[in-house]
Amino acid sequence: SSGKFFVGGNWKANGTKESVSKLVSGLNSAQFPSEVDVIVAPTFIHLPYVVENIDSRYQVSAQNCWVGRAGAYTGEIAPEQLTDMSVPWVILGHSERRSLLEEGNDFVGAKAANALTHGLKVIACIGETLEQRETGHMYDVLEGQLKGVADNVVNWTDVVVAYEPVWAIGTGKVATPDQAQEVHAFIRKWLAEKVSQEVSAATRIIYGGSVNDQNAAELASKGDVDGFLVGGASLKADAFATICNAR
Ligand code: G3H
Repeated sequence: SSGKFFVGGNWKANGTKESVSKLVSGLNSAQFPSEVDVIVAPTFIHLPYVVENIDSRYQVSAQNCWVGRAGAYTGEIAPEQLTDMSVPWVILGHSERRSLLEEGNDFVGAKAANALTHGLKVIACIGETLEQRETGHMYDVLEGQLKGVADNVVNWTDVVVAYEPVWAIGTGKVATPDQAQEVHAFIRKWLAEKVSQEVSAATRIIYGGSVNDQNAAELASKGDVDGFLVGGASLKADAFATICNAR
């Protein structure tokens, strides 16, 4: 395993003023060890509220950002606007954006490079669909997604890789601990061969896809599972806190 245990909560396009305020209060009273990095990713419009009101034990993340600088890009948010808002992290390449918005490997890589250049830390998501897994294309797909990131990233210190099999996201069909470990070990080996032994040893590889308070501990016991990216269960403070205590 590598680095500090890392748990991210991706709130996706969920939340109202009221529910976000309740979730933040719940998280502020949650207990977890100080040797865990805990990140929460609200929608853009809830970011300022969360930055101002969440306990300093949490770090805040955006769920996306623009590929270039601030300027005439209607509807986008640039990395320097996030850092100006005291948001240190961004999630990039989530499968929902890859599939629904057709974000490709090169585009995700370019966004990662731009985000890192402007001082953001990046949670880079990769993952195969069920069809790709069942037709034997899983490793090709993962490799292409990893390459998109690796071709654009010079310094890996501020990068976390999230393995999120698409078939496990929001489906209740969590990967088995062995399935997660197998892919995480593949990613670690790929980084060792294509980037460097140092980056492979130091980069956190986290799992996402139907992680909850019941299954997190067993997944976390696997050697190459360095944490989680949690969707649905991150909207419940108690469940999320249990996941933060999984290792
Ligand atoms: O980014 C989080 C993942 O998409 C997982 O979502 O925990 O609701 O399956 P989920």
